[in-house]
This record gives sequence, C-alpha cells and structure tokens, in this order.
Amino acid sequence: FTAEIDVTDTEKGTYPHFMLKEIDEQPLALRRIIQEYQDEHDHLKLDQNIRETMKVCDRIYIIAAGTSYHAGLVGKQFLEKMAGIPAEVHVASEFSYNMPLLSDNPLFVFISQSGETADSRSVLVKIKEMGHPALTITNVAGSTLSREADYTLHLHAGPEIAVASTKAYTAQIAVLAILAVDTARAKGLELDFDPMRELGITANAMEVLTDQKEAIDELVRDNLGTTRNAFFIGRSTDYFVCLEAALKLKEISYIQAEGFAGGELKHGTIALIEEGTPVIALATQETVNYSIRSNVSEVVARGANDMIFSMKGLEQDTDAFVLPEVHELLTPLVSVVPMQLLAYYAALHRGCDVDKPRNLAKSVTVE
Ligand code: AGP
Repeated sequence: FTAEIDVTDTEKGTYPHFMLKEIDEQPLALRRIIQEYQDEHDHLKLDQNIRETMKVCDRIYIIAAGTSYHAGLVGKQFLEKMAGIPAEVHVASEFSYNMPLLSDNPLFVFISQSGETADSRSVLVKIKEMGHPALTITNVAGSTLSREADYTLHLHAGPEIAVASTKAYTAQIAVLAILAVDTARAKGLELDFDPMRELGITANAMEVLTDQKEAIDELVRDNLGTTRNAFFIGRSTDYFVCLEAALKLKEISYIQAEGFAGGELKHGTIALIEEGTPVIALATQETVNYSIRSNVSEVVARGANDMIFSMKGLEQDTDAFVLPEVHELLTPLVSVVPMQLLAYYAALHRGCDVDKPRNLAKSVTVE
C-alpha cells in the first residue's frame, strides 16, 4: 500500500492553526473515504481476506487510546447493530491487567491515527503471540501497527499535524461504519437504510457546521470565558461524544472538563455543580431526548449554565445550537464538530498553544 501525500496537507496555508484546518477538512475527508471504499457500482472495496475474517469471527476486541478509543466506542455500535458481531472496546494501556476471557474466534481491531502508539502495540505483540488475527485501522500507511497486524484499513484523512486529533476521529468512525456495512452485506443481513448514502448526507451536514464557526466562537465567549471547569453530558451515543468533547477541551484549553452519562449525575457528579458551572448537553438521539433534558433541568436547578446542542427535529427554543439532521447512528460525525470548535476557541481565547499543548506529543511511543 502506498499513500499519496499532497504537500499542501502538511502546510497551514491561510489557517492560523493546523487544528482549525483539520476540523475544516473533515467533510472532504469523509467524501474521500466514501470514494476510496466504494466502486462505481456502489460495491464496497474491502480486501477479501478482511471480509472473510469478519465473517468468521465471533467477537471483536477493539484496542485503542485517547480519541481513537472514543471512536472505538462509536464503532462498537456499528459492529453490533449493523454487522451483528458482539464487540468490546478496551483502553490499550489497561488491557493486559484486565484481559477479558476471549471468545473462540476473536478478531482484534487496533484503532490508531499514528499507528505508533506503544500501549496499543504491546497488546498487538501479545495477541499475535497467542495466534489471534489483527486488523489495524490507521492514518499512516507503513506504520508499526499496520506492518505488524495481518490486515490494515487506511483512514485516508490526510496527515494530521495538530496534537489534538479531529479529522482522524471522524475518519475512524466512518471507516468503522464501512467495515460494519461490508460485513453486514457479506453476511446477507438487511439494513433498513442506505448507509453509504447516509454517509454522503453526513458529509454535507459537517460542511454546514464548519461554516458556523462564528456562532460557536460566540458561545465560547459568552459561556466558557474564565471558567475553570466544564461538564459534558449525554446518553447513549451522545455520551461517547461527550467523552471526546471533554478530552478535546481539556487537552488544548486546560479547562478541567469531564464527560458524563446523564443518568450518572445523581450518583455523585451533581455535587460538583455550582452557580454558573457550564454544562454542555448533547441531545441528538430521539430515544434519550426526554431523559437528557430532564438531567439538564436537574443541573440548571442547582445553578448550572446549560448549553444544549440538539439535533434538528428534537430541538427546543432555548437550545444553544441545532445540528443538521443525519441518521441516528451517524450523529457523532456531526455532533463532534461543534465540540472540536468549542475546544479550539476556548484554547485560542486563553492564549494556549492550540496545535502543541503542553506536556503532550502527537504520537505516544512510550508505555
Ligand atoms: C487526541 O486528541 C490525543 N492527542 C490522543 O488522545 C490520541 O488520540 C491518542 O494518543 C491515541 O493516538 P493514536 O490514535 O495515534 O493511537
């Protein structure tokens, strides 16, 4: 496999930061992924060996770190709901301490932007010694995780330079969706929607969002100005995006940020809410729209400053931001965009080094 790199991909061009450029590149990257993985007859172009391995495996173990782990949480839903394969997601650095009982025919899927994360590699080495098959999903062709796994799926996101991962996250989710769709088709499973068409619609929705930077900047100025902490709450798929939103905000703006499952608030976290604490809620799923809004009421009653990001069709007048509607399984691809922009503007206004936050490296090659 050879990857063609456009030299402009490694330059900022007119952008002040790589992170902003990479946020903006997401719709294009998603369209490129669709193009790379689908032929002119709408057939998916996946290595036949991957297809066969997916068909026979009885459980998928996703291994990843940081943002890639958060993409894995979303991908698990695709693999289970579309391809009918049980899947579990593990933080790479914890896997060896709490290794799960493995199924008879496991497949290990490593998700890594850089393909060099040492924690993930150490799991790869271990499971290869045990004789299990491994698939790496990475943005870097020829990376260690790609070379050492049996199979690779490429992200086609283009080089990601900013330490904070943005376009790799959405590319990982898109490739995991395509993997699940391909497996569903190979197994003859019927899907009640056209996933590739929905991915195209999602790319358009992402573009609408990248054009709304000023609105997000204003929300940041009004609500996150001098705050020391911020909470993200969601349920179901939205909860996974909240984890990513909090990671993004803390790593580049140094605001103490946490993502919580809405239902967990009353089990302890609500004690942290004070007058003016920013609470950002995601409401993109019809099934949990009522319950997440009731969680928001609970924190508002204790003085929180709420900002609800809802999906079109579920919105209420007081919501801070309404996201364009996409298929319910694909909402993370759109809801994460304003979360990335929130983090970007919060960091920018605090004078932080957006592309190179303190204490962090782009790829973590030590365990
Ligand atoms: C993301 O913003 C982080 N910089 C970090 O969590 C990153 O996703 C993690 O280190 C994993 O990296 P990888 O995808 O290259 O394996």
